[in-house]
Amino acid sequence: MMDYEKLLSKNVRTLQPSGIRKFFDILDTMKDAISLGIGEPDFVTPWHIREAGVYSLEQGHTKYTSNAGLSRLRAVASEYLARRFELTFSPEDIFITVGGSEAIDLCIRSLVDPGDEVIVPVPSFVCYGPLVTMACGVPVYVETKAENEFKLTAEELRAVITPRTKLLVLPYPNNPTGAILERGDLEAIAEVLKGTDIMVLSDEIYAELTYGQKHVSPCNIPELKERTMLVNGFSKAYAMTGWRLGYVCGPRPIMKQMLKIHQYGIMSAPTTSQYAAIEALKNGDGDIETMRESYNKRRKLLLKGLRDLGLTCFEPRGAFYMFPKIGGFGLSSDEFCTRFLQEEKVAIIPGTAFGQGGEGFTRICYASSVENIETALSRLGDFLGRLR
Ligand SMILES: Cc1ncc(COP(=O)(O)O)c(C=O)c1O
Repeated sequence: MMDYEKLLSKNVRTLQPSGIRKFFDILDTMKDAISLGIGEPDFVTPWHIREAGVYSLEQGHTKYTSNAGLSRLRAVASEYLARRFELTFSPEDIFITVGGSEAIDLCIRSLVDPGDEVIVPVPSFVCYGPLVTMACGVPVYVETKAENEFKLTAEELRAVITPRTKLLVLPYPNNPTGAILERGDLEAIAEVLKGTDIMVLSDEIYAELTYGQKHVSPCNIPELKERTMLVNGFSKAYAMTGWRLGYVCGPRPIMKQMLKIHQYGIMSAPTTSQYAAIEALKNGDGDIETMRESYNKRRKLLLKGLRDLGLTCFEPRGAFYMFPKIGGFGLSSDEFCTRFLQEEKVAIIPGTAFGQGGEGFTRICYASSVENIETALSRLGDFLGRLR
């Protein structure tokens, strides 16, 4: 008999599965449950974008593309970044990946040597730490605070830098807190990094979804641009999660090395998706506005509803999540969410799924219908009534 446990890589065996999954497994067994758990748009990809994908199939574009992606797509991505965010990347500085997820993995794998430290502000999206571990690096988590609007502060950053620090992850706009970094925050971070060799991985997958002010990228800060790998993608801005397409931009010598990993592991991102993405970047600005306005309405509805129920909640400035405080009821975040799901049939995610600092919080995704949000709020009111 093979002892598979023994055969498996220690790195893989000790990796914890994502804390989000458990709730979907319970949810799957329930009828009439509402999910405000999953982090994806509730829109279907706009028709003209889907049509471009369909048309590419009709035209017979069913082969691999070049490793870096269609040159037309890289050219329109370059135009898009200039138009929307005043970012200057030539098409040669951009390559197309399987979602932002692959881009994040490539950045980490191409930069991290065994023992290198990677600073990861938490609470944040679940993938950074595990991918660092898989690259034999050491994730160094920094707990961001509600009183600092969940921003990574210059002081917090300075305190964790060591001679082994290789990379800083900037996960803003943030999943799950909705925090953003503004120009001043980035300039303060630039000051801390000045004179070091620390690289930055900026996950800007929610760049198009900010409320009240435009997203600022570290690449808009001249002192940070030379050390930043920018990751973006199509999933959130264009409601294209299933198309699995993203991209990465950054200094050419690093991109060149990253492309080798992509070449050997992936070959090229999905061809149909790349054709659809050309249409998205060229003619999708209006769709983004429409969807963002709709998320913004729901953001206001949920925030008011949570505050009316007496919960403390940071007003999210980006993405489509809210991170209210649910400590103080004598339940851990996990117990709170498990009981809420079992008793009221609403799935939300415990803050602890997003790392240290998440205890006492829950993530609610408001990319769900107004009706679902209203029902969830009413059920939350009933649930809290029983806890109080
Ligand atoms: C912060 C963040 N980064 C990256 C991703 C992955 O996105 P993609 O679908 O482009 O792989 C997600 C998905 O939830 C996310 O929330």
